[in-house]
Amino acid sequence: MTGGIAHIGILTVSDRASRGEYEDRGGPAIDSWLSEVVSSPWESCPAMVEDDVDGIARKLIELSDRCSLVITTGGTGPALRDVTPEATESVCRCMLPGFGELMRSVSLQSVPTAILSRQTAGIRGACLIVNLPGKPAAIGECLEAVFPAIPYCIDLIGGERIETNPERLAAFRPGQRPAGTGDA
Ligand code: MTE
Repeated sequence: MTGGIAHIGILTVSDRASRGEYEDRGGPAIDSWLSEVVSSPWESCPAMVEDDVDGIARKLIELSDRCSLVITTGGTGPALRDVTPEATESVCRCMLPGFGELMRSVSLQSVPTAILSRQTAGIRGACLIVNLPGKPAAIGECLEAVFPAIPYCIDLIGGERIETNPERLAAFRPGQRPAGTGDA
């Protein structure tokens, strides 16, 4: 998959938001962060599921079949109903533990309970799946840290091309000079 429009899944995992008991703030926060940062054409594929491992896995399969990137929010903590990392692992060919390590280490600078998140990332087909915690404040913090590596990761697995606005957040592709530093 190259060129054209990139499809990005945004999956809110929450019992209460899916029952309509409170408004989903995580999904829209991811959407607006991406709108600021991604400069190439992309289409948002939003979805919401309860904290149920089979339901999350089914939705991840559906989204990853049509998206190059799926970002989840919620269900990463230690509570009984927090099963997003298990669902993610169950559908992925391989895991990328560096994503969770980096996001936790960045978040720990602002909140000690960041250590409670089991957030991770993995590859299914030509799609990268990344878990974020459910707190809207975590979304920008975590995406700022890991997003520079995401477009190249998606290149490597044969997904759709994603470009970022280099003045906002430069994507790192090895062997490619950062915009504005090359010869004319
Ligand atoms: N990370 C950041 N950056 N900011 C936060 O407020 N909250 C933590 C942690 N990671 C938090 C964070 C808390 S309190 C929990 S319980 C875990 O994420 C898991 O949250 P989740 O179950 O909503 O995914």
